[in-house]
Amino acid sequence: MLIRIPNVLAPSEAAEICQLLDGADWKDGRQTAGYLSQQVKQNHQLREDHPLCIRLGQRILDALDADQMFLSAALPLKVVPPLFNRYANDEQYGRHIDGAIRHIPGTGHRVRADLSATLFLSPPESYDGGELIIEKLDGADSIKLAAGDLVLYSASTVHHVVPVTRGARLAAFFWLQSLVRLDAQRAMLFKLDNALQRMGHDHPDHPALVDMMAVYHNLLRLWSET
Ligand code: NI
Repeated sequence: MLIRIPNVLAPSEAAEICQLLDGADWKDGRQTAGYLSQQVKQNHQLREDHPLCIRLGQRILDALDADQMFLSAALPLKVVPPLFNRYANDEQYGRHIDGAIRHIPGTGHRVRADLSATLFLSPPESYDGGELIIEKLDGADSIKLAAGDLVLYSASTVHHVVPVTRGARLAAFFWLQSLVRLDAQRAMLFKLDNALQRMGHDHPDHPALVDMMAVYHNLLRLWSET
């Protein structure tokens, strides 16, 4: 599953967050990487308990809560609060796999990372490089999005971030456990939900709409776990 979700934040909001992050107290990103990832990770991150990280992270969570496309695509059960990273001066993150289990800080709760997400904050024209490369069986997807846009992708994929050779790339990133664990099932529900919305728009009075809606909800009942 790889879905681009536009305008999670308005470009002006993303710019405001970049400004707030600009003078922040960035730490070596290796502090939060596993032993294998540490060897290929070169970036900076905001500490998860930094007040700015908590405040801006909550702002992003609120935006996601109101984003119909995100909710429909991710079917989120538990979301790990967003973290923030910064790549500049040729920093990069080599090929790695995200850990399967993440802690929610301060709660003792654990989340199975089904989906990874990156919310791009810097305008793409302000830096060179910094593409998120997500490997698939036959090649790779290269992702570099507008400020405020988000990419949601399967956490089971090997991926990397190419060196940032000019400017700085600021982003928020997080993981989530989905109500529907399997990518294929979640992708079908997303397609069905999209089709239902289109039908509901074009033929709101068609009686079959309710029956198809019933199929959507009953599949969700079958496949979801809480
Ligand atoms: Ni990663």
